[in-house]
Amino acid sequence: MSIFDELADGWGKPFAQARMLPLEAYRSDDLLQSELTELFGNDWLCVGRTADLAEVGDYLTAELPTASGGNRSVIVLRAEDGEVRAFDNACIHRGAQLLVGCGNEARITCPYHAWVYRLDGTLVGGPYMNESVEVDGSPFDPSQHHLVGLPTEVWEGFIFVSQNPNAEPLAPELEGLADVVGRYEMQGYVRVHEQIDVWNTNWKLLVENFMDAYHIFKVHKDSFAADGDNTLDTTMYPGTGSWAHHRVHHDGGPDLAAADNTHLVGDWRKTIVLAAVFPGFVVQLQPDWLWFLRITPLGTGQVRIAWQVAVAPETLAAQSDPTAYTADVLALVNQVNSEDHPVVEGIRAGVHRPQSPGAPLSYLERNVWDFDEYIRTRLTSRS
Ligand code: FES
Ligand SMILES: [Fe+2]
Repeated sequence: MSIFDELADGWGKPFAQARMLPLEAYRSDDLLQSELTELFGNDWLCVGRTADLAEVGDYLTAELPTASGGNRSVIVLRAEDGEVRAFDNACIHRGAQLLVGCGNEARITCPYHAWVYRLDGTLVGGPYMNESVEVDGSPFDPSQHHLVGLPTEVWEGFIFVSQNPNAEPLAPELEGLADVVGRYEMQGYVRVHEQIDVWNTNWKLLVENFMDAYHIFKVHKDSFAADGDNTLDTTMYPGTGSWAHHRVHHDGGPDLAAADNTHLVGDWRKTIVLAAVFPGFVVQLQPDWLWFLRITPLGTGQVRIAWQVAVAPETLAAQSDPTAYTADVLALVNQVNSEDHPVVEGIRAGVHRPQSPGAPLSYLERNVWDFDEYIRTRLTSRS
């Protein structure tokens, strides 16, 4: 049976009958090809935060996975009208890469033959083009040429782009999630760290692990669960076809919001939200800080993880030593990463057995199943 038939077979069962995806799903080149085309080629992919593009001309570059296996580089920038826009990071003359990394530019000048673009992607002009003509024979007209744009949407301070020119708007799909996370005002959180890691595992195993509320008490007994097992404080919520979340809330737990934070009230000041926007965006959102990952495949057995930590502005302002505070948060996140790392690489290392695990999941793995149902639905004839 093909992996697609296997996935279709397991689709649509009640959660009580949930099982792990077949091991073939984590090793199949055919499935990866489908994921790149159908998921990463169509759905909304996070490329960063608006906080990274505060000023007009601020730009960042990001790599989007493609069906051909290579990456597609895009420029994401703050245009003169204040909007965030995304373009292919490629000159329309002969395809030179325009920008590297991040920075600020009033205009974009191609490093190859110095064609110049405005921040809205329109072409100002190119030198020594006086003898060139358009296809209809008229003189070269810069106003007829512009960078190739991608659909771009800002959601709660996160910038998403889609490689599908006709992508359905993202915000309506995430309305239910915005109802949960909107109150945190996370668009104002201040970035304190960013990093890119490559792990030897399948990208789906990383999404599943991030959304798995079941392993915390065990794998993270010395980090997240160091002050006690809070598993019973975790509430699982059913996901949708495009996102999932659960919350951790301890009645007697500490107020995680700074005193100056007046927008979070009541229990929300003690609530941690774990959310995923499929396929590859996950975030741990707390009243005091957030940690988000942009997860993209580099093959069936390798994943690229671009992650940031950002701190709530009131929390940062309340610190007598913000540097020490930030270092503590990062130490915690690094420890958590080091605890997850061998587990998710170990699962991938074991995918070459013929027999997939077939035992039931815990109710705490509800969001793992939500993500797996998204995979089953979108990559089989169920969609
Ligand atoms: S490739 Fe950019 S100006 Fe020639
Ligand atoms: Fe973990």
